[in-house]
Amino acid sequence: MTEQDFILKTYNSTIESGSVKWASPSNIALVKYWGKKKHQIPENPSISFTLSDCKTITEITYTKKQEKGFSFDIYFEGEKSEAFKPKIQTFFERIEIYMPFLKDYHFKIETSNTFPHSSGIASSASGMSAIALCLMSIEQELKADVISTERSMSDEKSHFNQKASFLARLGSGSACRSIEGELVVWGKNESIAESSDLYGVKFEGDVHSNFNKYQDTILLVDKGEKQVSSTVGHQLMYGHPFAKERFDQAHVNLAKLKAILASGDLNEFIKIVESEALTLHAMMMTSMPYFILMKPNTLEIINKIWAFREKTDSKVCFTLDAGANVHVLYPESEKENVLEFIKDELVSFCQNGHYICDQIGQGANQIQF
Ligand code: DP6
Repeated sequence: MTEQDFILKTYNSTIESGSVKWASPSNIALVKYWGKKKHQIPENPSISFTLSDCKTITEITYTKKQEKGFSFDIYFEGEKSEAFKPKIQTFFERIEIYMPFLKDYHFKIETSNTFPHSSGIASSASGMSAIALCLMSIEQELKADVISTERSMSDEKSHFNQKASFLARLGSGSACRSIEGELVVWGKNESIAESSDLYGVKFEGDVHSNFNKYQDTILLVDKGEKQVSSTVGHQLMYGHPFAKERFDQAHVNLAKLKAILASGDLNEFIKIVESEALTLHAMMMTSMPYFILMKPNTLEIINKIWAFREKTDSKVCFTLDAGANVHVLYPESEKENVLEFIKDELVSFCQNGHYICDQIGQGANQIQF
């Protein structure tokens, strides 16, 4: 697949209006995406667990208009929002070539999250993937009469998901991993034949039952604005003294993780996942300018997790995004014990005692009216 394959060539613009709605989840990377080239091409491959309950729900109503140019309004949790407009404007500009109908319609975008707005959880993955999926449904409606026999049903579905992921990537890199479940790889890597820099692909390798319903409890250590946006963070990898080693390491870690997912070796899983999280933060600490995105309570939690593992034979571990919150990952079989540990020993380090329980999910869903 190349970029050219995603250009919509024929569509029926006589359709006056319509509405589509999707719920799309967040995801948590095990091997991290950190550093990108032009056009949202990742410097290294990444793999993530798709989440189940942390979702963005987006409805787009489209209405035919006369004058050309982008026209859209955004409502966030019922209120008209100007704050998201520049991001969507940039997104539309990037994807217009693939969706020429974007200038023919006015779009009313109504969106809300299932997780609290100011939780410090990145909503760009769920948010951008939900919009991309809505636009794909609109594309499908507009081309329904024009092309009916070009592809089989299953080819059509895989094209739909692939293009949705391709578009979501242009909105926010990690968003391309939120279309499907349960594990998604983004970025070309030798050990995963179908992997691509252009879109995420469902991980089709063997996955041991140890990973069934894997749990992710998100500890909200700091709910404030991010100290560094991901966009700025990715730029810090340009000219970073350890960039090449880091990008090479991600390839190796992904190949190792593929084998671990098949064998179910949770000790090895922990090593890769925690090392990836700390490496991401190490990259930020060793860039110029440098940042420390962990808070004292992030470290308290990490140390408590390590002590708990030492004391019990638990396989609980942590991962981090580009912020202070901690994702606590553990097998479903340990759900009761780990939740008790979280409540007894970790919740006191969370802002206002807030945390969110989630688990591996199946990907986005269209909501029918
Ligand atoms: C640390 O996808 O938010 O969460 O492409 O600039 O929108 P943009 O960045 P974004 O970066 C997320 C980076 C990360 C790691 C990951 O999810 O792989």
